[in-house]
Amino acid sequence: MSKVQNPLTIEIDRHEASPIYLQIGERFKAAIAAGHLKPGDRVPALRGLATQLNTARGTVEMAYNMLVDEGYLQMRGAAGTFVSSSLPGAVTTPAARKTRERANAPRLKRPEPAADIGNDVKPLRPGLPALDAFPRKVWSRLVSARAKSGDLATLTYPEPSGYRPLRERIATYLGLSRGVECVPEQVFVTNGYRASLELILRSLAKPEDRAWFEEPGYLLARAFLADANMRLVPVPVDHEGLDVDAGIAHCHDARFAFVTPSHQSPLGVTLSLARRMKLLDWASRAGSWIVEDDYDSEFRYVGRPLPALKSLDRDDRVIYCGTFSKVLFPGLRLSYVVAPERAAARFGQLTKNMNAGSPHLYQAAVADFIAQGHFARHLKRMRALYAERRMLLANAIRKAFGDRVSIDLPTGGMHLVAIFHAGRDGPIDDMAMAARAREAGLAVIALSAWYLNARAKHALRGIVAGFANVADADEAAGLSRTLRRAYDAQSMTASSDAKSA
Ligand SMILES: Cc1ncc(COP(=O)(O)O)c(C=O)c1O
Repeated sequence: MSKVQNPLTIEIDRHEASPIYLQIGERFKAAIAAGHLKPGDRVPALRGLATQLNTARGTVEMAYNMLVDEGYLQMRGAAGTFVSSSLPGAVTTPAARKTRERANAPRLKRPEPAADIGNDVKPLRPGLPALDAFPRKVWSRLVSARAKSGDLATLTYPEPSGYRPLRERIATYLGLSRGVECVPEQVFVTNGYRASLELILRSLAKPEDRAWFEEPGYLLARAFLADANMRLVPVPVDHEGLDVDAGIAHCHDARFAFVTPSHQSPLGVTLSLARRMKLLDWASRAGSWIVEDDYDSEFRYVGRPLPALKSLDRDDRVIYCGTFSKVLFPGLRLSYVVAPERAAARFGQLTKNMNAGSPHLYQAAVADFIAQGHFARHLKRMRALYAERRMLLANAIRKAFGDRVSIDLPTGGMHLVAIFHAGRDGPIDDMAMAARAREAGLAVIALSAWYLNARAKHALRGIVAGFANVADADEAAGLSRTLRRAYDAQSMTASSDAKSA
């Protein structure tokens, strides 16, 4: 067995913007590329390196896990951790060295491109509310009444911060339903969650700020933030939601944390009260901002909806984001942000510079929809309908897949996650399987696509499927059989590839 070669001297720079575990990872990759560490070499023990670097053991462990996931290191139980014996030449050749040296200026990994499921309405699309159950007649009556009214407010340039009566309705609704205390001046109407993020970043972010992002987390937001040059620090999610201690260990001074506390996207867990308090405490001490994405909390099937994280925010550190995409329909393109009190004026100023607002006609119709009680009635009906539809789909997938998958019946939201169990040939490639399902006419998304690195070992494999539009048991059974065929076709390809390798 090879020994630890010339005790590796790794140096970290505490003034560098990159988190320490990433710096450690990059130093190892550079040492491998430069030939200082060779395939089969044993690397220092966790505790030893942590002492040498005067950092926490957990930080070194995080770096090692990342290197294992990426294939640079192998853990061999009690024998220790080694440089992979099967490193491709591309990693260790001189050409790779140059690339590595350049790459040695720590950069955070770019996320996987978001799965492109376009704007079609194929079955099982996650995040799409029941389009068959939207009260279209009521809606068209309200829109047409507004259009006919001759109200000049619906014809002139819209107010960039949002139509005042809708901002008032939203503030009242949030106070009553989500425990969020705010005034209409803090509410800004936007054209979707990414537009909300843009307003937040323009108001509060500096170039290359670092941000905690849930791992796995909402893929469209991840891609948007990475594109906006936000340096994303993946923070694991477990059964209690975001692992705040891990976030602090990896990057204690991140400027933002982007979270889905009510119903984690995509795993569906709820951030526990203890973690909520810890997260708020961290943000207060670090002077950081928490962006709460409360996208589908209105739909909860077990117990009462939990109040928003913002309702516990005593230090004005939480920026609350909501949307009408789930509770009404996404084609409306109306969502909103509640700015922190101390930043509301800045948000208001920025909306004037950055967008031309959303049509008042639709904002006014939404305000009427809420004021006349249709909103509360629609939500009540949808809660009952979705509770039923989630059972239909969960049961049908369980029946079609048997013990190949596990599904926890979601306690809220409009999608479920089916996790694939590893078979004889290891875990199935869920990206390839989801692509097959899409070819067969379904709009499911691979679970691993929600991770920063879909190929990472810690990435769970499975599918994320929306249940809101599954009309009945027959449809659920048919869709599940189509899914199963895609799964079988992918398993067969994988096992014949394994045999011929
Ligand atoms: C996690 C998450 N956040 C926010 C949204 C809302 O996005 P938008 O308001 O742009 O429709 C969605 C929609 O699917 C989502 O899944």
